[in-house]
Amino acid sequence: MNKLTIALAKGRLGEEGLRLFENTELEIVREINSRKLVFNNEAGEVSYIFVKPSDVVTYVEKGVADIGIVGKDVILESQSDVYEIMDLKFGKCQFAIAGFRNQKLNKKNEILKIASKYPNYVQKIFAGRDQKIEVIKLNGSVELAPLMKLSDVIVDIVETGNTLRDNGLVVLESLEDISARLIVNKVSYRFKYEKIQMIEKLLGGIL
Ligand code: PRP
Repeated sequence: MNKLTIALAKGRLGEEGLRLFENTELEIVREINSRKLVFNNEAGEVSYIFVKPSDVVTYVEKGVADIGIVGKDVILESQSDVYEIMDLKFGKCQFAIAGFRNQKLNKKNEILKIASKYPNYVQKIFAGRDQKIEVIKLNGSVELAPLMKLSDVIVDIVETGNTLRDNGLVVLESLEDISARLIVNKVSYRFKYEKIQMIEKLLGGIL
């Protein structure tokens, strides 16, 4: 059987992704409070797996999942080899450099310390700039880094701006817009083209 596997990020983005399939033949019913990580739709043609956001790309790139829903921030950081076929227009936020209002981004010969959950992305952004940097990889609460003098600035996603504001920080430079994207494994795109196109049309009609 030509079954399709869809990888979703555990949490808000995955829940919103799943909502797109509500009231369609791809809908799944989940038991409340279930810790299960794999779900099939009624007809058994589609499986959904729930993984960490950064692992969505890995599962799709390796072909274990045929398609996935994940934030553009994760795609940019992962540098993986998948097709990004649709902007799903939710989970909107922005990549930005942030810090204290008086922080300069050009420190001439001094090293600019940057804390981020996205070290690869930071390297890419600063590759063309005449500024030496040190990237400090963190896994969360990145806004704390300038406060505790661990870094000069952060590169992070900003949604409402509340976390920055509540910690006395500001956006020093906006980088790029982020939203949820539909990604597809390159082999699946060829061999399961009809099913994937059906999902593209379904989501295209909803969005
Ligand atoms: C994200 C991000 C910022 C915050 C931005 O963190 O890393 O810290 O949300 O949102 P805002 O502009 O609406 O305040 P997340 O909530 O994922 O938690 P984390 O710090 O543990 O990564």
